[in-house]
Amino acid sequence: MAAEIAVIGGTGFYSFIEDGLEHDVWTPFGEPSAPITVGVIGGRRVAFLPRHGAGHRFPPHAINYRANLWALRSLGVRQVLAPCAVGGLDPGLAPGDLVVPDQLVDRTQDRVQTYVESGAVHVPFADPYCPRVRRALVRADPDVRDGGTMVVVEGPRFSTRAESRQYAAAGGTLVNMTGHPEAVLAREMRTCYAALALVTDMDAGVETGEGVDQVEVFARFEANLARLGALLRAAVSSLGDPAGCSCSTWADDLALTYDVPG
Ligand code: ADE
Repeated sequence: MAAEIAVIGGTGFYSFIEDGLEHDVWTPFGEPSAPITVGVIGGRRVAFLPRHGAGHRFPPHAINYRANLWALRSLGVRQVLAPCAVGGLDPGLAPGDLVVPDQLVDRTQDRVQTYVESGAVHVPFADPYCPRVRRALVRADPDVRDGGTMVVVEGPRFSTRAESRQYAAAGGTLVNMTGHPEAVLAREMRTCYAALALVTDMDAGVETGEGVDQVEVFARFEANLARLGALLRAAVSSLGDPAGCSCSTWADDLALTYDVPG
């Protein structure tokens, strides 16, 4: 049942591991989005959790991010690969492009984004993504763009053109609804984490015509599932040892006031 690596599947990404075993995992924060499937890929024990639950049960603002990250950690997971659908804010991108962001901007409004409920624990987050997991993702496919700033909005609505232009003018490359608080909770769980963004649309500020619509986003993600799966399998197989990574060592000399399982 233990796993070392996890993939958190995004929009339309409901299964990844064939012949895996499903586990219902209890957490002090309630239920994760779905049972977690554990199996073997490239000789590594890998867990898969569909972020939105079966049949896209949970919209971005209703996902139990704390339960998801805690559950994975409790299985032994130390490295997380997080594919997600994004809108492009940079006209140099096009639908179908893959980006491994190196920064994020939190524009969410109403999400629990910490395990800390008492005491002085301030997680370092200047570089929100794990350099080792990022490298494995970037090296897995020569067409992946290395770097970009992902603006995470509350949703579930898409942005207005004015909002979208504001995000782009402020340096945003991508826009998404689930990248936060997932990344920071992984860091609080002392777990390496990196996002793999698939551009499903050009967001309203770049797009001409009617703007983004959900059918386009889901169809584009679906059309790229096989490619995403192959990239993730290659990255999983090449991931190095997480020991000594700053994603976990930041807490070595701190008295954490919350439980990190596993
Ligand atoms: N996910 C996919 N496309 C998006 C967009 N344009 N805005 C926010 N989240 C998205």
